[in-house]
Amino acid sequence: MISQDTIDNHAKLIAFQIYDAIEQKKQNNEHLVLGLATGSTPIPLYQELIRLHQEANLSFENVYTFNLDEYCGLSENHSESYHYFMHHHLFDHIDIPKENIFIPGGEVEPIFLKDYCVGYEKHMQELGGLDIQILGIGRNGHIGFNEPGSSVASITRKVELHHVTKRDAASAFGGFDFVPTHAITMGMKTILSAKQIYLMAFGENKKQATKQAILGDITDELPASFLQHHDNVSYCLDFDIYTK
Ligand code: PGA
Repeated sequence: MISQDTIDNHAKLIAFQIYDAIEQKKQNNEHLVLGLATGSTPIPLYQELIRLHQEANLSFENVYTFNLDEYCGLSENHSESYHYFMHHHLFDHIDIPKENIFIPGGEVEPIFLKDYCVGYEKHMQELGGLDIQILGIGRNGHIGFNEPGSSVASITRKVELHHVTKRDAASAFGGFDFVPTHAITMGMKTILSAKQIYLMAFGENKKQATKQAILGDITDELPASFLQHHDNVSYCLDFDIYTK
């Protein structure tokens, strides 16, 4: 049974860690690089960050953000694009400078794509790399759009979406056949380079993949299992992985 209280408490805890990290950087005249995720899972976290901005004077002026992924073929204004999602759920409500926001482009011309992806990585590194990465998880164990079969050494690139991912997105797009077939995603290597990772997984439908990711073998069949290589991951769950 999903407990909204548990979810809200996780969101508050992560938001406070982000608040603290931003304030510490501010005191040193530095910036924070935040990796962000889309989907239903991080929405309570974004609501809490907005609340901290509005009620506790948290400023995002010294924050840079890099999003995990974007569907190929969708314009930034498309209601299912992750550009739209991020502005609607977070960026329009906080004071982050627009030029500090990075989300993979869904409409990059194929001939420019490789350079574009290398540039995305390079820009992240030039800013000092990801300080904190927020993650959800797919039912198939994907992280970002690193679908089963993704290598631990993968970087930002174009990928084909897995049938489970497409099935889960079908209702939002008005049917399976209308879900984009491809996306651009940060790679597993990119994600694992973050200094601190928070993985959020809520609801019984995430339990099996999450349990396998934390307790099972490390395998590219379940890319979330690669997080076992990282020594600073917080798993924020509303279920017990030690029970059936
Ligand atoms: P969700 O998606 O938050 O909408 O469940 C998570 C994911 O697929 O990574």
